[in-house]
Parts: sequence; structure tokens; C-alpha cells
Amino acid sequence: MDKSLLKVGYEKNFGARDDIEYFFSPGRVNLIGEHIDYNGGLVFPCALSIGIYAAVGYRQDEKVRLVSKNMDNRVEFSLNDIQYKEDDGWGNYAKGVIKYIQEEGYNLKGADIYLESTLPDGAGLSSSAALEVLIGYIMLYPILGEKIDRIWLALLCQRAENEFIGVNCGIMDQFSVAMGKKDNAILLNCNTLEYEYVPIDLKDYKLVIMNTNKKRELSESKYNERRAECERALEYINNYRKIENLCQASLEDLEILKEDALKRRTRHVITENQRVKEAVELLKNGDIKGFGKLLIKSHESLKNDYEVTGFHLDAIVEEALKFEGCIGARMTGAGFGGCALAIVESDRLKEFVSYVEEQYYLKTNLKPEFYTCSIEDGVK
Ligand code: GLA
Repeated sequence: MDKSLLKVGYEKNFGARDDIEYFFSPGRVNLIGEHIDYNGGLVFPCALSIGIYAAVGYRQDEKVRLVSKNMDNRVEFSLNDIQYKEDDGWGNYAKGVIKYIQEEGYNLKGADIYLESTLPDGAGLSSSAALEVLIGYIMLYPILGEKIDRIWLALLCQRAENEFIGVNCGIMDQFSVAMGKKDNAILLNCNTLEYEYVPIDLKDYKLVIMNTNKKRELSESKYNERRAECERALEYINNYRKIENLCQASLEDLEILKEDALKRRTRHVITENQRVKEAVELLKNGDIKGFGKLLIKSHESLKNDYEVTGFHLDAIVEEALKFEGCIGARMTGAGFGGCALAIVESDRLKEFVSYVEEQYYLKTNLKPEFYTCSIEDGVK
């Protein structure tokens, strides 16, 4: 995005000044490894070229003012008095992060922050993690510059989302936004936080993100419910043998679980973790078709065993897979609506988009959106 546009937005809201600083924080797409970050598993996300831009003017007092071109409400608060307020909506994500940074002993300055987002909101591309990490980076920038410890910041933002917002998310989203690398996906071990960058070269294929435009419903409560189910399954297994997290369970352990739902949740967790390992190997060997097949299996598992897809995500994935040039597709992110991804022959991209658009509309009465974004660096 052109800085001059951001400058205009900033000045309209906060007045002119000549020392505005500019920032960008990406959304993320998870290629494979869904709903296993909070089970100590492997995930494989990358940061995107769509995200949130900011123009910032630092202040000498304690005030923080936030305006977003994409949101109706302005948010204003003092660094000395940060509290969760229902009416502040999205602003609470910023508040949580700032509160916890201060609790770590940093002496922050106030700021006027103008935001513009190219990321669809609440669509499974981590708009909340993008905002959290962006605000953390902006507030620490005058003190630490580019020396900010990005993993520390990701963990702090996750804690803000868990404790200040009340969504019990794992570390994947904040980590991807903070640590993304151009043209690479991150193979992240969520148990140890060890990670490896894996170059993504899809050869004759392109990664397409398909937004169902079905807003995620009840996603927070259902998300927390799945987490609780996994914790219960782990407890049962731990009565028989000690494992640290559910990804360390084996298919034989399923026998221990009496409840059908817990069996299926655990089976997803075990098989999905295995699929991540296979997917990374296939990509390293340039086997894009093999990678596509694993995406299909991942979606089936999220649909039947983990039950986080729903009518709209299933419809868009099904229609995408009917198209001959599409070699794999799956939901991405938390699920219950939001986005799916597809791997499609580059030459047939246009045809693919109009085919899926039409077929999906016939099924759901909703118009989907498509993004063919590139893989980019983390917050900057
Ligand atoms: C959301 C959470 C992540 C992760 C995914 C599912 O995006 O924020 O931590 O659990 O869902 O893989």
C-alpha cells in the first residue's frame, strides 16, 4: 500500500506531522497441521502479502488513540488504565497486548495509530494475531527498534488473546505473523517452538485462498470446546501411560477412550501431525500432487473426526475439487466458516475461480472471494 494513502488517513484523523512511522503486519495461512498447535503438534503456516498497515505518530503523554479505516469505532485509552471494554470491540486486542508489555517492565509512550487492513476480518487468516503482533511491534519500536525478540512477542500476544480476550488459542498464528519469511512456510514444533523455514515452490501450481464469506459462528466457544475435549482425552490416556501432549498419543491409545467423540478428536490429532511430516517431505521432493492429496485427507479428517468444517467450508472444498486443475483443497484456520485453500494449475486459475464461484453460489447463495497472495515476511 502506498504510504501517501496511509499518511492521508492518519492526518485526517490525527492532524499533520512530519515524523510518521509506517508498519505492516501480515495475515497467515496454515498449509497443513490444523487444530494441533495446542496439542503440541507440528504446523506449517506462512505469512501473507495481505495484512494490516499502520501509520503511527508517537506521543509524549500516556494516551493511545486507534482508528481503523475498516472499523466504525475509534478506541482511546490511557496507558495507566487499561481495561477490557465490550464497546471497544477490536480495540481490546490492542489493549491486552499493551497491558502485558507494560507488565514486563517496559515504559511505553502513547501513540496515535491509524490502521488500514487488506485482510478479511474473522475469516480464518489471523486478523486478530496480525493486529496483536502489529500493536506490540509498534509500541516497542521506539525502545527496541528492529531488535525486538519476535518469539517473545508472539508468546506475549498469545497470552493476551488467551487471558485478556478469553480465546484459548495456540501459538501458531502469532508465531507466523511475527516470524514469517518471504517465499517460505514455517515448520513449527508447537511443543518445543523449534522451527525450520521450508521454501515453497509450487512449480506449475498456485496457492489460492477461497473465502466462503460465511462468518464464523460460535467459533470461539466451539474452539474452546474442542480444546477441552483434547484435554479430557489426554487425561484418560495419562491414566494408562504418561504422555506430554495429545500429539504423542498413538492409534493404539484410541482403545482407551470410551467416548466416540474423544476417539475421533484424538484420531484427527494423531493423523494430522503425521500428515504434516509427510507433506513437508513431499514438498521438499517437489511432489506437489502428493502434497495436494494430503490436503484433501486433512480436510476429511477435520470434517469427520474433528467436526470443525460445516456446510460452507465443505461446499467450497467439494466444488474446488471437482475442477480438474485443482489438485488439493482444505479448510484453513479455526474453521466453522472462514477460508479454505486450494492448489490449482496456474494456467487455469481464472477458469477455476469462475467455476467455483458459480457452483458455490448455487449451493449456498453466497458469493465467495478469492485471493492469490504471495508469501511474505513477518511484521515489519
Ligand atoms: C486458530 C487458532 C490457532 C490454531 C488454529 C487451528 O487460528 O488461533 O492457534 O489452533 O485456529 O489450527
